[in-house]
Order: sequence, then structure tokens, then C-alpha cells
Amino acid sequence: MKVTVVGAGNVGSTCANVLAHNEIANEIVLLDIKEGVAEGKALDMWETSPVNLYDSRITGSTNDYSKTAGSEVVVITSGIPRKPGMSRDDLIATNAGIVKSVTENVVKHSPNAKIIIVSNPLDVMCYTAYLSAKVDKSRVMGMAGVLDTARYRSFLALELNVSPKDIQALLMGGHGDTMVPLPRYTTVGGIPVTELIEEEKLDAIIERTKFGGGEIVKLLGTSAWYAPGAAAAQMVEAIVKDQKRVLPVCSWLEGEYGQNGIYLGVPVILGKNGIEKILEVDLNAEEQAMLEESAAAVRNVMGVLDGMDVL
Ligand code: NAI
Ligand code: 2OP
Repeated sequence: MKVTVVGAGNVGSTCANVLAHNEIANEIVLLDIKEGVAEGKALDMWETSPVNLYDSRITGSTNDYSKTAGSEVVVITSGIPRKPGMSRDDLIATNAGIVKSVTENVVKHSPNAKIIIVSNPLDVMCYTAYLSAKVDKSRVMGMAGVLDTARYRSFLALELNVSPKDIQALLMGGHGDTMVPLPRYTTVGGIPVTELIEEEKLDAIIERTKFGGGEIVKLLGTSAWYAPGAAAAQMVEAIVKDQKRVLPVCSWLEGEYGQNGIYLGVPVILGKNGIEKILEVDLNAEEQAMLEESAAAVRNVMGVLDGMDVL
């Protein structure tokens, strides 16, 4: 089982390290456009194998896509990250060109790959990749919901002083400030979260989740990588092990949740074929309105992209 990670920066190298350390794939290729960076980081990771006791082979490549040939899954993290004062949408001009050319190269060498986009602005970069890849929608998806729900779950665990393992949650919509955490679909050891936490505290956690990316940018001066890298690796694992995990994944919608022709985060079953099924859960009027607001924000950015003539 071969997996490629494009972009050996903060998120890509973290993802590759998790994949190797947890033996999620037996062959991992890390690729970057910057001379020597992917090779150097991959070698450094491989040198941890006798200490961390894994035998997944990890190698690096400077933009040589022939090394990625036959990958089962490709994670695309290439692009620029946010700096303080920037929104994810400010990255569009640079990242759309990068994601387009990377996707074309990926598909040329791994025509059957499932492609997981991480580059921002996430929902619109998925759209860019889908148009560039020209493969079935089930094979082009984005990582955001796994990260955003992880943030939500980690904040709830702190507030309730419980294990994050016992918190299950659903979050939908775009990967931006309009994302839609769903308390009605959040449980703690099977108990609805609304029974364990006051409404005001829950609202504050939801707000913190929506701006969770920005909170890290403010602290670090660039965007997060540990949780994003781990989240992308979890999606890879679901696919390569055909786990049929139920995860929030940025998916191409054709009528689901009343949305057509847009990438948005929704719950799916993730297995060896990529997105095997989009699960349609009941949303009340308020939740549906929030999802529509989030979709409108994503469509705005899609409009910017359409006007830029990158594709
Ligand atoms: P980074 O700057 O550390 O790494 C990006 C890497 O991409 C660099 O090493 C760069 O050389 C490489 N690159 C640029 N153009 C390339 C090309 N054409 N081919 C191959 N490699 C190329 O950035 P970081 O922090 O790893 O973030 C990567 C992207 O992921 C950003 O767009 C960021 O906003 C996004 N992101 C998305 C998240 C999500 O939840 N979807 C979470 C965190 C980051
Ligand atoms: C994050 O949510 C910036 O998308 C990145 O951390």
C-alpha cells in the first residue's frame, strides 16, 4: 500500500510522520518542490524507525512524480499557509495554481488514487482539484471536518474534564468561520452533550471551534500542523484499511442537504473506494439555515476563483 504526501512543509511532514510511525502504509513518498527538503525530512523520519519501531518505508522526492506512481492515496498539502491578519480565502490566487498543477501530475502517475486535499481555502481547493483531476467525485475530497471536530471535541474534553476519546461530534459546512458544529449530534459516552453542559458554555466552545484555526495563527504566526497532519492521516488510514469510518469530509454535493455543485463538509462513510456514501442526517430549520450561510460563503470564494481564470 503506497501513499504520497505532496508538500513537505509543516502539515505534510507531520502527516507523513504519523503515517510512518503508525504503519498506516508500508510505502510513503513525501514530495516537495523545494530542492532537498522532502528527501531531508523523509531521511530524518526513516532514521527514527529503529527507535520508534516501525518498518514503513519513507522516502522523499524533489518534484519527481514518477516516484509517486501507483499511489493508493495522495494527500495534497502544497501551498502557502495563513499569516496573521490573513483569512484562508486570501490564499486562493497562489494556492489554486499550485493545487491544479499538483493534481494533474498526481493523476498522471496514480490514475486510481484517492486524493485528499488539505491546502486552503479548503472547500474551493477541493473544487479546483476535482476540476483538474477529472476523476469520480468519490475520489477527490478534503480534510477539514476531522480537524474542526477534533478541536471541538478537545475543547469539550477540557471543559467537562473527561477523556476526548469519549466525545463524538458532528460538524458540517465549509472550513471557515461559518462552519456548523452541531450540538444535537454531539455526545459524551453516549449522553447528549446538552445534558452535561450549560448552554452559554457550549456556545462559547462552539465559537472557539469556529475560530480555532485563527487562535493558533495568532499564537504561532502561521497555521497549525500537528492536529491537521494527524487528521489527514486518519482519513488515509480509513481508506487504506477500508475501515468504513464515519467522518466529516469535504465532499462534492449533488443535491444532498439541498446543495448542488459545491464542496462542503458532510458526514460520509470513508473506505477503500474513497467517499462510499454521503450520510444525510436530519437538520432542523436553524441548522439548515447555518449550513446555507456556510455554503454561500464557499460559493463567494468559488466565484473569485471562476473570475481568475486559473482553471
Ligand atoms: P508550509 O509552508 O509549511 O508547507 C507547504 C509546502 O508546500 C512547502 O514546503 C512548499 O515548498 C510546498 N509547495 C509549494 N508549492 C508546491 C508545489 N507546486 N509542489 C510541491 N510542493 C509545493 O505550509 P503548511 O503549514 O504545511 O500548510 C499547507 C497548506 O495547508 C496551507 O495552504 C494551509 O493553509 C493548509 N492547511 C489546511 C488545513 C485544513 O484543515 N484543511 C489545516 C492546516 C493548514
Ligand atoms: C486551520 O484550521 C488554517 O485551516 C487551517 O488550522
